[in-house]
Amino acid sequence: MSDNLKVLFFGDVVGRPGREALKSVLASDGVYFEQYKEELNSDFVIVNAENASHGFGLTLKNHDELLSYGVNCLTSGNHIWDKKDVYQYIDNSNALIRPYNYHKTARGVGYRIFNDKILVINLLGKTFMQPVNCPFQAIEELSEKLNFEDKIVIVDYHAEATAEKIAFAKFASTSGVNAVVGTHTHVQTADEKNIDEKLAYITDVGFTGAYESVIGMDFESSIKRLVTSIPERFDVAESEKLQINAVKITFNKENNLPVEIKRINFLIDKRNKEGET
Ligand SMILES: [Fe+2]
Ligand SMILES: [Fe+2]
Repeated sequence: MSDNLKVLFFGDVVGRPGREALKSVLASDGVYFEQYKEELNSDFVIVNAENASHGFGLTLKNHDELLSYGVNCLTSGNHIWDKKDVYQYIDNSNALIRPYNYHKTARGVGYRIFNDKILVINLLGKTFMQPVNCPFQAIEELSEKLNFEDKIVIVDYHAEATAEKIAFAKFASTSGVNAVVGTHTHVQTADEKNIDEKLAYITDVGFTGAYESVIGMDFESSIKRLVTSIPERFDVAESEKLQINAVKITFNKENNLPVEIKRINFLIDKRNKEGET
């Protein structure tokens, strides 16, 4: 039996192109499954799903769809409330988490423990984001409340500001957190590192979805909004090329510390393969 545990974490899945991309590489009947089987082989899969339903929020149908591809945990962010049916199912899901640092009356949960071993926490950042409870204080409270020592602790830190994400990661490494994966900007950064050999880190894991796009949304509505400064409805982009953005983190099961963090970033071209993607 291996002493390592591999966790795959996919950046925000945006709309149908994002779900298609994920299915094609992750589902055992996906058209690119065989090709990427080795690179994407893992023991546990986390997907940020805040944009999975038409770019905003997550419907029950898409929640179930993502889980059917072999995803173990769905994290989210500020967009999790956008599809109102989330209120119908969020308390029944055994995979979805929303940011922990909302007010205590918020529906759903902000962390989950899987197999008594993997603790996944979702937090919202505080800079250039809607005001929420302090994420630094939140992780301190959680480290006192939950036993971090005997678990692999992974935080999806959903935030805008790079410096804040780096500072949070260093802070969290002293609380027993083993990985901080940044999400929200949808642009993958090339700064993955193993901080003090204690915490695997990347500022932003990126997004999974349409490659020819503005962070997953179509050029036309995105540009019009910026040119006119008048609110414009964003549409999810269509693209022949789909991007897969993820990280694979290997942990030592004995001491829960990260051994390696590897960035994953590749394109699949829908025109190259016959059949369903
Ligand atoms: Fe997002
Ligand atoms: Fe977000």
